[in-house]
Amino acid sequence: MPIQSIMRGLCLPIAVIAALALPLSVVAQGNPLGLNAEEIRLILRHGPWPAPWTRDVSNRVSGKREAIAFGEQLFFEQRLSATGTVSCASCHMPEKNWADGRKLGTAIGEVDRNTPSVLNVRHQRWFGWDGANDTLWSQSVRPMLDAREMGASERHVAQLVRVDAELACRYRKAFAQAPALDDETLMIDLGKALAAFQETLVTGRTPFDDFRDAVMRNDWKAAASFPQNALRGARLFMGKGNCSLCHFGPDFTNGEFHEIGIPIIKKSGGIDWGRYQGIKMLRASRFNLLGAYNDDKAKSSAQSTRFIDLAPQSFEQFKAPSLRNVALSAPYMHNGHLTTLRDVVRHYSVIDVTLLHQAHVYAGDVYAEAVPTDTVLQPLNLSDQEISDVVAFLESLTERKPGFRRRPLPACR
Ligand code: HEC
Ligand code: HEC
Repeated sequence: MPIQSIMRGLCLPIAVIAALALPLSVVAQGNPLGLNAEEIRLILRHGPWPAPWTRDVSNRVSGKREAIAFGEQLFFEQRLSATGTVSCASCHMPEKNWADGRKLGTAIGEVDRNTPSVLNVRHQRWFGWDGANDTLWSQSVRPMLDAREMGASERHVAQLVRVDAELACRYRKAFAQAPALDDETLMIDLGKALAAFQETLVTGRTPFDDFRDAVMRNDWKAAASFPQNALRGARLFMGKGNCSLCHFGPDFTNGEFHEIGIPIIKKSGGIDWGRYQGIKMLRASRFNLLGAYNDDKAKSSAQSTRFIDLAPQSFEQFKAPSLRNVALSAPYMHNGHLTTLRDVVRHYSVIDVTLLHQAHVYAGDVYAEAVPTDTVLQPLNLSDQEISDVVAFLESLTERKPGFRRRPLPACR
């Protein structure tokens, strides 16, 4: 074959490839915001929002309209508690970003941890700060039984649904059967209805989402309306700050557990062992995905739980929270230790890495100095201006019109 036709054969595809690649290289070198290709790639990874979601196969009523209505009623139902005075919404208040604004959650008594928002909870894989539950429905059962939260029993919540005509009617519509005769089975079903409702709680669009989508469309005019300080903060967050390593993807969390040096002495005394304790509780729970209540009979959903490892690194680790609506979720961290977003960014800026991973003795398990895993955390030594920029970026992750108005549920017949 003459050399020229070989060249022609090669050149055409190369020219086509070059033409296809053009927008990105132009963007990388010449966009008015001066973002490089890596920055653009990282920005795009934090979307799209709302993120796609598939129903929970472990919950047979996930996504079912009647179960969502039943779950909503249960979420606000004070009679589920032993005292008749508190509900899920006592701590997860719709008007407070579905949390409570307190350092530590308080219902019948005070608990050891900060109340997380239940917004976007459908995207989580592990639930609670320590991941002690592997489904939204088992997590939703726990507070009913905890003496400091709602203080009820299986018998109490099951009987309520059996004897109350309205609740029994909603149960029948949701599960297409009469309320189960076994208390535990019925209580788990209430958890599944509560989960179906909470799956519908998703945060709205934020200034960051509009910016991200504008970058995606190469619409630099629209992208330029993102505030300058938030843009500088975004670059720190995704660049030198390494924040997106753990606060990753559309929901700004990798859903996993890390130690970032927040004190672990509990106000009520003793130590909060975080993930280490969570794994022990998860394995011991009859309500985990390996158990009889998983509606996914093939149990493909139980893989992560089956292979979970009780590693010494899990001491003092807590779940990396989502940062959506973070401006509304103060105070921060598993125990509400930090009051403002500025305090949080300052914490990362001056972090003392020698405090991470000290020697541990735990409930008969003795470990020498645990292996540091999160060496990614190094003091960032940010200037005051840089701290303000990261805070401005975090604020841009908060939806424009937060709020939830409850429409009265139509009566059940
Ligand atoms: C005392 C206040 C309080 C009450 C009442 C309460 N919660 Fe919570 N909720 C918390 C706290 C604190 C946590 C964190 C628990 C942990 O890490 O161990 C939490 C965690 C959760 C989570 C996990 C969120 C995540 O991101 O992992 C869900 C879901 C949840 N609660 C749902 C409910 C439901 C449903 C009810 C009612 C049946 C309820 N809660 C009642 C305080 C409360
Ligand atoms: C090694 C993983 C990791 C990195 C890197 C990281 N975080 Fe975190 N972040 C976490 C974990 C884990 C928590 C919860 C810790 C706790 O409660 O003890 C957290 C909590 C937070 C919170 C509190 C959210 C809330 O609702 O309580 C904010 C805000 C935050 N991080 C922002 C940042 C910023 C900004 C950076 C970069 C400067 C960053 N994070 C880097 C893992 C990480």
